[in-house]
Amino acid sequence: MTNKIPVGVLGGTGTVGQMYISRLENHPDFELSYIAASPSSAGKKYSDAVHGRWRIKEDIPSKAKNMIVSDANDIKSAVNNCSFVFSALEMGLIKQLEENYAKEGIIVVSNCSANRWTEDVPMLIPEINPGHIDIINNQRENHGFNKGFIVVKPNCSLQSYLTPIYALMKEGYDVSKIIVTTMQATSGAGYPGISSLDLIGNIIPNLSGEQEKAEKEPLKILGELKNKKIINYDKIKISAHCNRVPVIDGHTACVSLEFSSIPSKSINLEDIINIWENFRSVPQDLELYSAPKRPIIYTNESDRPQPVRDIYHENGMAVVVGGLEKENIFSYGIKFNGLSHNLIRGAAGGGILNAELLKAKGYLG
Ligand SMILES: NC(=O)c1ccc[n+]([C@@H]2O[C@H](COP(=O)([O-])OP(=O)(O)OC[C@H]3O[C@@H](n4cnc5c(N)ncnc54)[C@H](OP(=O)(O)O)[C@@H]3O)[C@@H](O)[C@H]2O)c1
Repeated sequence: MTNKIPVGVLGGTGTVGQMYISRLENHPDFELSYIAASPSSAGKKYSDAVHGRWRIKEDIPSKAKNMIVSDANDIKSAVNNCSFVFSALEMGLIKQLEENYAKEGIIVVSNCSANRWTEDVPMLIPEINPGHIDIINNQRENHGFNKGFIVVKPNCSLQSYLTPIYALMKEGYDVSKIIVTTMQATSGAGYPGISSLDLIGNIIPNLSGEQEKAEKEPLKILGELKNKKIINYDKIKISAHCNRVPVIDGHTACVSLEFSSIPSKSINLEDIINIWENFRSVPQDLELYSAPKRPIIYTNESDRPQPVRDIYHENGMAVVVGGLEKENIFSYGIKFNGLSHNLIRGAAGGGILNAELLKAKGYLG
């Protein structure tokens, strides 16, 4: 017998879903009990459903291999097999499907963008806005959910720079403008995603939808929960350029920040590095299983961080920053580079950390 909470993975055959299945093996609190995907995978043994497309470096966990994949549209079968799900689906109508899961009493911890702008759904980075989970009771009231509810993760590219920016804001740096250029890995587009012929030796700019997410989602995450509503933060303007690059895993961002009231000549770069290196938050205080001990790591090496060398720090959950300099264009500002693993911190690892926070705060029953 196990006291672990039974959990399902919707989209378990996909790029993000595989990472969930791999990282749930040996989790101290959650036990994989259900896998669902599209009707074309439903009814197959998991090892057959992912044959030829398993792309995690560890083998398929032995328990998952023999599990029979269900159809993610068949909510009743999930109800009988798990008490919450990680949603990693890529399909139309996800918003309605996730709501239907919640209506049926299943908690949904989602990676998908469909519910990110649903007013009463918290969009969580546990180091930044763990308090937003308090809106869950209002969400249940508003939608008539009994046991179920939905929480979401933001877009994967934000993870490589928003926590370092938040760490500075927490210490009084009044960030007023962000200009960010992302270089996003191929695995961020799922599998098979983009053809190698389109991407090898190439860059695809202006990623559809990504720039809008990068410019809007931080405002909700940095927002304040007030009178049962998340009020978006309105003191920052963001301009984003998002590019797909021929990197397998790991999203990099080049960031320039303007502060409204700290003159750059008085900006001390050593102070900023210390703020990043010493940053700790709720997941670290609660000692959540997936929480990185050092959420932000600064590298002094001038040619780092690099995806090939730096995405696995803290088991893939750290943001690695480097290249800190004063910004010449803005009157008061800095620039830096940030990197994080899009499938771990930016997807499955971040989703599992959200679930660990919910459990620690009593929301997983
Ligand atoms: N890749 C990343 O770095 C990343 C990061 C953060 C968030 N996300 C988000 O996470 C989600 C999954 O992304 P991904 O990259 O893992 O995509 P993916 O590799 O294309 O996987 C998609 C999954 O959805 C399932 N699916 C497709 N059509 C379906 C249908 N009609 N009914 C039920 N299931 C269906 C697929 O099942 P079959 O295998 O049976 O077709 C597969 O399991 C997306 O919403 C994406 O935006 C991705």
